[in-house]
Amino acid sequence: MTSISVIRKDITSLTVDAIVNAANSGLRGGGGVDGAIHAGAGPGLMNECATIIEKNGLCATGSAVTTSAGDLPAKWIIHTVGPIWGEEGEERSSLLLSSCYKSALDAASNLRADSVAFSAISTGAYGFPKRLAAPIAVSAVCSWLEAHQRAEAPSSIFLVCFDEENFRITKAVLDRLGPNNTPLVRTEGQ
Ligand code: APR
Repeated sequence: MTSISVIRKDITSLTVDAIVNAANSGLRGGGGVDGAIHAGAGPGLMNECATIIEKNGLCATGSAVTTSAGDLPAKWIIHTVGPIWGEEGEERSSLLLSSCYKSALDAASNLRADSVAFSAISTGAYGFPKRLAAPIAVSAVCSWLEAHQRAEAPSSIFLVCFDEENFRITKAVLDRLGPNNTPLVRTEGQ
């Protein structure tokens, strides 16, 4: 069984296999969680990101790529590029946000990561409304879990909220899902 938990923490402090960064298409670093992750990981991360961009070109919105985590306690960073709110219609933006979570879980599965912590993709500088983003995040994770074998899935998934509002909204979404509502998902707030 995979547990999905919402926690209010700085994602850079977490000792998990993989943390999921809210990156930009050029993996150039930035502010918000991206800035915190680059600051914590050290300058080697920017070199790894530049190598990926040189090789593959810009990262598409909704896709995910993996780097090491440098000086952070995590083992890997999965960088995903969320949609910028207002650039596309709501339906397309929602699909792209869902794709971020699913692509990141694909990457985590390829890494055999057993614990994965997501930042709240697109809900900061990219302006995706938090009350819309939280249910998309939860349902993307649940549908990914339902579509994959237990052996391919991490045991623990953390939805990491930095701000109180995101924490409250995300916890309410998980609470609505109910404990043991599917055989794959256990919910817990913190
Ligand atoms: N740990 C966990 N979450 C954090 C942290 C942190 N240390 N710092 C910020 N956050 C949260 C914010 O509260 C927000 O809810 O991350 C969420 C995502 O916000 P942003 O980091 O602004 O990411 P996003 O909206 O996807 O915008 C991405 O911003 O920093 C740039 O390079 C990045 O261009 C990209 C854009």
